[in-house]
Amino acid sequence: MLKRSKSPRTSPAAPPALPVSAKRFRAIIWRYYRIHGRAMPWRRTRDPYRILVSEVMLQQTQVARVMKFYPGFIKKFPGYRALAKASVRDVLRAWAGLGYHRRALALRELARTVVQEHGGVLPRERAALEAFPGIGEATAGSLRAFIWNEPEIFIETNIRRVFIHFFFPGRGRVSDRAIARRIAETLPPARRDTREWYWALMDYGAMLGRSKEVRNPNRRSAEYRTPAPFKGSRRELRGHILREVLCRASARRKEEKRGFGLRAIARAAARPIAEVRIAARALAREGFIDLEGDVVYSK
Ligand code: ADE
Repeated sequence: MLKRSKSPRTSPAAPPALPVSAKRFRAIIWRYYRIHGRAMPWRRTRDPYRILVSEVMLQQTQVARVMKFYPGFIKKFPGYRALAKASVRDVLRAWAGLGYHRRALALRELARTVVQEHGGVLPRERAALEAFPGIGEATAGSLRAFIWNEPEIFIETNIRRVFIHFFFPGRGRVSDRAIARRIAETLPPARRDTREWYWALMDYGAMLGRSKEVRNPNRRSAEYRTPAPFKGSRRELRGHILREVLCRASARRKEEKRGFGLRAIARAAARPIAEVRIAARALAREGFIDLEGDVVYSK
């Protein structure tokens, strides 16, 4: 059981000389975790579905935000079957606030495949996981580590930060290949520790990300891209359209057929109508909404 302190430190106690040996590295990470390991609802469960939902949400959304929306989503869709038969509208409503909405539709598609082709059981093989929509190499690895304690090698942003900090001091353009080698070399010897080891790495990486003393090591990653501004982006406009549709428009197949005009959306979002049309057409093609001329309906 973890002992938790009330106020997590924002930096490691005594900075070690870098790079460190694998043994010393593991000792530093475990020590930090024993004191500052974070409690999260998806860390208290072994239910593959619940872990899957959390990993998909955490792909592009920060822990604090996921913590806010995860319990409601699980309550509404407690398993594959409930999610598989949900309408697009209900899934998007439960997803509202998490952004990157394609993940929500992919998750419903995945639930349908699990029900129809795998008897309601998430397959364990890497290839089968990677064949699902919305599951790439990293998420397949994290699922296998967190659900089944498989000694997988996978990289996400906090893990990358930890390895660049400890093993590549002063180096620029550090490749994920080089990081993966270090991850493999430092995996705990006992397989039963895999799950917690990755939690510990993520917690340490999150702390490094908040640290005032350490300049974000991920800027030295070969994968690093300056984040694109959200304001005025296509992503912001997509979110705007979806919000309006979910609040105001009914489904087209329903009797009352209450649609919502793209011009009103353009006015509310202060964006040119041409831009709104392009975004709405893309959303319709991807299965988020129905579009008839300039009128949108929810699905
Ligand atoms: N715990 C389990 N999965 C996690 C993730 N993807 N990010 C942060 N903490 C986690």
